[in-house]
Amino acid sequence: MSALDNMNTLKENVRSFTRRDQVFPFLIPQTHPLIDTSHNILLYAEGVNKSFDGFKAINDLNLYIREGELRCIIGPNGAGKTTMMDIITGKTKPDSGKVWLGSNINLLEMNEAEIANAGIGRKFQKPTVIECISVWQNLELSMAGVRSVWGTYRAKMSSQQRDKLESVLELIHLKDNAKLLAGNLSHGQKQWLEIGMLLMQNPKLLLVDEPVAGMTHQEMDRTSELLNSLAGNHSVVVVEHDMDFVRSIASHVTVLHQGHVLAEGTMDQVQAHPEVKQVYLGE
Ligand SMILES: Nc1ncnc2c1ncn2[C@@H]1O[C@H](COP(=O)(O)OP(=O)(O)OP(=O)(O)O)[C@@H](O)[C@H]1O
Ligand SMILES: [Mg+2]
Repeated sequence: MSALDNMNTLKENVRSFTRRDQVFPFLIPQTHPLIDTSHNILLYAEGVNKSFDGFKAINDLNLYIREGELRCIIGPNGAGKTTMMDIITGKTKPDSGKVWLGSNINLLEMNEAEIANAGIGRKFQKPTVIECISVWQNLELSMAGVRSVWGTYRAKMSSQQRDKLESVLELIHLKDNAKLLAGNLSHGQKQWLEIGMLLMQNPKLLLVDEPVAGMTHQEMDRTSELLNSLAGNHSVVVVEHDMDFVRSIASHVTVLHQGHVLAEGTMDQVQAHPEVKQVYLGE
């Protein structure tokens, strides 16, 4: 390439760099696509199958989550609960079936990042808060729209964003600990902070895997309160083994067994279900 060509390329680069109609992708605030919930259903999973080496972990699974509902999924070890969450979040692709967010977004055509951006947040069992920064900074970092490091440190939070952060702090009972290093929180408080970090991204659907494992009774009660207060504004799907906890939070329970829905209803209804008693409660 001649020196002149080089010069022209450079000029072209500078020109495209400064074009007014283009912005860097990381500066674009994240906005969820419009989800069509006119049928009042936020998540559809229909006829979903997934085998691992010939073993059917998910077997003709049908699951419908309404907008704003709080749903508990229970089931014995190996029932397919985590695999189900992996499929919804795009970590695992099913062999067949349909998984839709609202009636217009086909999750099976999207990767994990796209699904997260579409409004599905997932909380894993082990909290992944950043221990060496404060509670406030953890929330700030996870805010929709100022997610990039550049954005976080250059862009001043709008008063709306500040209000949002403060309301989340209140919701997760960490208002008095905002300046504390996240590493100094108790196990339960870290779990709440992580839920708070998900909330900063305004998810439509929150998936929470075994939130109360390792919590004290008092922390469990607060977690139950927290998840209940999220319902309405978000759909929340909770996988949990602790039956007292499930009873305390959910009006609607789904029992999974061998990758299939065995029963659905109130806790009393599913506990009285003969097949549930047989396979799940060991009676
Ligand atoms: N990546 C994988 N490769 C092979 N087998 C897998 C894989 N993921 C899950 N399985 C199998 O699929 C079945 C369902 O597992 P899954 O983890 O979804 O169950 P679970 O309901 O979450 O159980 P638990 O209550 O113990 O967490 C299990 O038999 C498991 O061994
Ligand atoms: Mg699991």
